[in-house]
Amino acid sequence: MVTALIVAAGKGKRMGLGYNKQYLLIDGKEVISRTIDVFEEAEFIDNIVVVVSKDEIEYFKENIVERYGYKKIEAIVCGGEERQHSVYNGLVECKRSDIVVIHDGARPFVKKEHILETINMAKKYGASALAVKAKDTVKLVEGDFFQQTLDRNSIYFIQTPQTFQYQLILRAHEYAKEKGIFATDDTSLVEQLGKKVAVVEGSYDNIKITTKEDIYLAELILKKMKFFKKE
Ligand code: CTP
Ligand code: MG
Repeated sequence: MVTALIVAAGKGKRMGLGYNKQYLLIDGKEVISRTIDVFEEAEFIDNIVVVVSKDEIEYFKENIVERYGYKKIEAIVCGGEERQHSVYNGLVECKRSDIVVIHDGARPFVKKEHILETINMAKKYGASALAVKAKDTVKLVEGDFFQQTLDRNSIYFIQTPQTFQYQLILRAHEYAKEKGIFATDDTSLVEQLGKKVAVVEGSYDNIKITTKEDIYLAELILKKMKFFKKE
């Protein structure tokens, strides 16, 4: 069983809208609904678990799940203080899953074929994640000076989905909890177990809607995606 675990329980502070950025409308549809659509329509996803803030559960049920009539959402789970806690709360609800595809609710432009590739790689290697190559030269800075130029070909920006065999990601989260390890993504927790995570090269369009500038970018990406769909 392949489960999509979508985390949407953040506060969207950097976006500064005064409400959770997941509910921002992009061309008339909420960011979170656009994200769920991709997984709802992907035939290789069996079910969906969504993590939302405690005080948004009712709103989410009424205005997203019921309104759009999603069929695959099996559980709506309460989020935690940090993303890592939200993921863990979701994982606990995935006990029947073999593979868990962890995805940010704030990344609505993920492509179906990229999701599938992360699943295939996770089946083979245990863990995988989408990433894109750095476009700019990346340097390490110490104090006021550049210290070192990193090899651009081996620098990647990591995205989601991050996809795992269920027992592995559960173990990684439990180990992190026990040891007080904190990370901003799930592959880092798996690395703490000494396990390697496979790279799946994705798309620059798979942005995480984070700050206000991203709204304009999101509208452009959507336009581009619609244009290519028509062709
Ligand atoms: N997330 C979550 N639970 C949290 C924090 C984040 O489920 N406690 C989710 C967000 O809803 C988002 C994803 O994790 O889909 C990536 O996080 P981020 O982009 O940082 O979103 P926010 O935390 O909402 O934004 P900010 O950090 O600006 O407050
Ligand atoms: Mg955050």
